Amino acid sequence: MTTFEARFAALIGTRHAIGVGSGTDAIKLSLKAVGVGHGDEVITAANTFIATVGAIAELGARPVFVDCDDTYCMDVSQVEARISDRTRAIVPVHFTGYMVEMAPLMKIAESRNLPIVEDACQAILADIEGKRAGTFGMTGAFSLHPLKNLNVWGDGGVITTNDDAIAARLRLIRNHGLRNRDEIEVLGYNSRLDTLQAVVGNWLIGTTEDITARRIDNAARYDEGLLRIKQIRLPPRPENRKRVYHLYSVFAEDRDGLYAALQAAGVECKIHYPIPVYLQEGLKGFGYEKGDFPVTDRHATEIISFPCDQHLTCEEIDYVLECVRRYYGG
Ligand SMILES: Cc1ncc(COP(=O)(O)O)c(C=O)c1O
Repeated sequence: MTTFEARFAALIGTRHAIGVGSGTDAIKLSLKAVGVGHGDEVITAANTFIATVGAIAELGARPVFVDCDDTYCMDVSQVEARISDRTRAIVPVHFTGYMVEMAPLMKIAESRNLPIVEDACQAILADIEGKRAGTFGMTGAFSLHPLKNLNVWGDGGVITTNDDAIAARLRLIRNHGLRNRDEIEVLGYNSRLDTLQAVVGNWLIGTTEDITARRIDNAARYDEGLLRIKQIRLPPRPENRKRVYHLYSVFAEDRDGLYAALQAAGVECKIHYPIPVYLQEGLKGFGYEKGDFPVTDRHATEIISFPCDQHLTCEEIDYVLECVRRYYGG
């Protein structure tokens, strides 16, 4: 495991990488390490995957949501207004593999003395002007789940950090807080990265750059084809950042009709997500209501993700494009 951790730290460009049981645990343990606990508030994105929110809630903290914009990431201009006396951390989510505007977010966090835990589970090797996801905040949380760009053969996660004290604390927390066999320094969890998964990770980590390049090429082929279909709108594609396309998502007119037609044609398209997390029944207790996050709500009706993984062929992508064209009568 230590070899995998060292290689992961080198890949991302941080002093430390700490293997844990999952991406969810990578967020949860990070939040615990920076001091989040019962009754605290943690700011995060309204359109994220449940894991981000579950990690916050498991610590007894309240997720305080911020709406996204058409990049699918948190609208940083709304963060300041959501900070209260109880805010203890901010969890930006680099959703789809596109990075949150980190420079203004870091400024806010620094001025309010709030730690940032980056949810980089979908964003391995994404960057802004060459600075990678997982290197901005106090920690970066990565997932090695089988659906992720770099994946192992089960669950796994990694936390990156440049902070020696936080790294030492995380190494304790992931192993029951055990200082040694007989002494417990803090209360922790059983969340070590499984040795077998670390072996798989070691075997695959050298291919991460290739996997990323394949996904970027796939996305470029989609972009070129979809730009000519007026019923499809692409999200912004600013030059100064690397998008790693864990998901390839666009906005579509008559989204549900297109989704059904593509499924019928054998295309495994997906919707991320048809019901925003903040409106899920399991989160009722937090008291959010429909309309609280209008951009997230709109995305739930417009967004569609096309297959984009590294195993796709050009012919398969062209087939998806042809199906989309045919659906809109082109
Ligand atoms: C945005 C986001 N956060 C957190 C996670 C949690 O990762 P894991 O499934 O490894 O617990 C995932 C993926 O599942 C994710 O997509």
